[in-house]
Amino acid sequence: MRTDTGHVFKLEDYRPCDYLIPRTSLDFRLSPDATHVTALLTIERRAGVAASPLVLDGDGLTLLGIAVDGHTLPASDYEATPDRLTILKPPAAQRFELRLETEIAPSRNEALMGLYRSNNVYCTQCEAEGFRRITYFLDRPDILSVYTVRIEAPHNEAPLLLSNGNPVESGTLGSGRHYAVWHDPFPKPSYLFALVAGALGKVAGSFTTMSGREVELGIYVEPGKEQLAGYAMDALKRSMQWDEEAFGREYDLDVFNIVAVSDFNMGAMENKGLNVFNDKYVLADEETATDADFANIEAIIAHEYFHNWTGNRITCRDWFQLCLKEGLTVYRDHEFSADQRSRSVKRIAEVRTLRAHQFPEDQGPLAHPVRPRRYREINNFYTATVYEKGSEVVRMIRTILGPETFRAGMDLYFERHDGEAATIEDFLKVFEDVSGRDLAQFALWYHQAGTPNLTVSSAHNAAAKEFTLEIEQSVPPTPSESRKRLMHIPLAFGLVGANGKPVAWTAVEGAMVDDGVIHIRKRRHTVRFSGISQRPSVSLNRGFSAPITLSVQQKADDQFFLAAHDSDAFARWQAFNTLLTDALIAAFRQILGGKEPVFAARLAELAGRIAGDETLEPAYRALALSLPGEADIARDIGKGIDPDAIFAAREAMARMIAEANREAFPALYESLADKGPFSPDAASAGRRALRNILLDYLSLLPGGAGLAAGHFNAATNMTDRAAALAVLAHRHPGTAEAEEALAAFEARYRGDALVLDKWFQIQAGVPGAKTVEKVRELMRHPAFSIANPNRVRSLIGTFSSANQTGFHRPDGEGYRLFAETVLEVEKRNPQVAARLATALRSWRSLEPGRQTKARQALLDMAKAENLSADLRDIVERTLA
Ligand code: PHE
Ligand code: ZN
Repeated sequence: MRTDTGHVFKLEDYRPCDYLIPRTSLDFRLSPDATHVTALLTIERRAGVAASPLVLDGDGLTLLGIAVDGHTLPASDYEATPDRLTILKPPAAQRFELRLETEIAPSRNEALMGLYRSNNVYCTQCEAEGFRRITYFLDRPDILSVYTVRIEAPHNEAPLLLSNGNPVESGTLGSGRHYAVWHDPFPKPSYLFALVAGALGKVAGSFTTMSGREVELGIYVEPGKEQLAGYAMDALKRSMQWDEEAFGREYDLDVFNIVAVSDFNMGAMENKGLNVFNDKYVLADEETATDADFANIEAIIAHEYFHNWTGNRITCRDWFQLCLKEGLTVYRDHEFSADQRSRSVKRIAEVRTLRAHQFPEDQGPLAHPVRPRRYREINNFYTATVYEKGSEVVRMIRTILGPETFRAGMDLYFERHDGEAATIEDFLKVFEDVSGRDLAQFALWYHQAGTPNLTVSSAHNAAAKEFTLEIEQSVPPTPSESRKRLMHIPLAFGLVGANGKPVAWTAVEGAMVDDGVIHIRKRRHTVRFSGISQRPSVSLNRGFSAPITLSVQQKADDQFFLAAHDSDAFARWQAFNTLLTDALIAAFRQILGGKEPVFAARLAELAGRIAGDETLEPAYRALALSLPGEADIARDIGKGIDPDAIFAAREAMARMIAEANREAFPALYESLADKGPFSPDAASAGRRALRNILLDYLSLLPGGAGLAAGHFNAATNMTDRAAALAVLAHRHPGTAEAEEALAAFEARYRGDALVLDKWFQIQAGVPGAKTVEKVRELMRHPAFSIANPNRVRSLIGTFSSANQTGFHRPDGEGYRLFAETVLEVEKRNPQVAARLATALRSWRSLEPGRQTKARQALLDMAKAENLSADLRDIVERTLA
């Protein structure tokens, strides 16, 4: 484990290396406890650079041998420590060969970075800085090298030997051993290196590219699970097709392989030609996966595939540029899913995710710009800000330039930077060049942290036939950025007339208004529309054109009108969601003793109308009916949070909606039952989603537990089964129905760790004070393992990030369990521990009693000995 050095890496300190490594040959003799690695590196001094010591990165390495140009290097000529190798006086020649031998122990690698073992399969994870746990190297993304990899292992232990690129040679050796050689012709950074070896089952496919080349596709899974990889294979082919159609991007190697492993720190990894996946994002069938799982698999398969151009062919100059590949690739996978499914439903789901994960980050102590300027531990910057807000920034470029110019800019980006390690400046420049526009102010979206807010009010002057919008922007201060500059915010909008139709204006002044978008660039804009005789309703931030918050002074009647009539599906959903949130906040205040108006009855009636509106997609209706989450409500309240009061308000609202629709919901619920055979397509998934949310409401009426138990027992797929189990466990905890269903589920999936994760998750999410003890108990369940990231995230991650009343138990027991467990996880896997620890990032918004206890838990973690760089960074920034 790397302990903290306290060193802060700064963007302004970037300097190209004096040395390059144009070629890398690796030779692996695999063995669980002692894998021998020989690296033959062609080192080149950059032209015009004077000879200087060559310093290579390592992490926990032991050097067994070192030679330069075939001669063993005398001990006086180098210094080797576990984390650094310094060649004091490299040869004077421009080019030389460095041969390094190291020995590593994959079986003891519990951090899951570098070469490790998962279920007896050897696999690697090198992003961001894991390659240095394999051999000494210039382990930074601007060092691009052509790799040749030879792998040797006993045939019975590892019949399959994979690496990046194309296979070139393989054969048998004496004493049951064999080998394979792979060559990747595309220069790549070390973080994209991968090796997999073991006994795996294969699902084969093929794809013909737009220029007619045949690509062999392989998905490798645990033997016996091949039938679960069909959906992933289909998603892969659709991704390859889509990238050709939408971006003109063709695949470039003869093979494309995906391997699913059970122990993985993240979702998946885009290693060139050899993607490694968390098996949760590959394996699926109707019996074991929910519709949400299918959608995630499709999105992540696409995401990693799309990285081949945005990330691999064009990579990042340094880790400050992480969003160059991640934000852009998320944007691409969002567009893919939108094209494969329903665009408006996808957009609403994206915005919900952004608000749930990125907004709290941007509004708390861990806020950072999409392109950070400093970090202590890069692992902690794989964040919702870099990924999700990074994607929104790309989307805004498209909104500002229009689809054709955006595409021209992307084409220029691929043409200009193919084979390079690029920066955000390079990315913005292509769009400036194709459009002739200056994007300097827009670039603040990359450089400035914090969620901008727009305050908007409107006025209509009937006599002058004038409609006016007063818009004011502000960006709240964030850590180390107290003064903010004014941003360029593309605000898509519409003026909606009483008939629901768009209202036209004859002239507009006060801001540039272009193609349905107001370009906010100053602190204040008074936007005046002329030729408007009747007061319109104003629909703002349509399609969520900018990742901002809005404070709009708008009459409730206007909101109700938009929630029923806005032609922009996102804005229509938003109007209803805002009304729900306002009502929930009002109810929260009432619970705490205030008095405010509530429109609960009107909302419940509108909910019923939306639920039954056949002109709307079922998936859209399901999203509209799912109430703002407890954490969403908390975020809008801002301070003095009492999660129990929020829970009570939300519960009361759900009951009100259920009661008001007690006549209509049962019939609708019945009508949505699956008729034909199961299909994971978006329309079928949407019907299941609507039916399952109706079940959630109906379960609150008399006989509800029985209804949910019936739904559970009749379920023929995991979506329905898991939904019913969650309704039973969360709405009827402790009842015989809930207990029986939990036991039945456990018995049925006893041997299937991925499915049992759902069982852990559902139980970790049970609201209320008792769940802390339950989680402690489940940590002793035979299927739980503190070493497996998926198990830890399902149980501890769900408890701490998705169970507001359980985690924030007033006596602080939730925090205690959390701090203990984070430290326990950290001993093995600092990266997973640090990510878990972010669950306390919003501690300052809690009411004083909980705040004190949450802070104590953070302090307890901070004072633990030998904290990893990963965890110390999160804990200290959270407390700062
Ligand atoms: N680069 C991966 C992705 O977004 C994420 C990842 C980061 C995986 C670090 C592992 C380690 O596709
Ligand atoms: Zn990615």
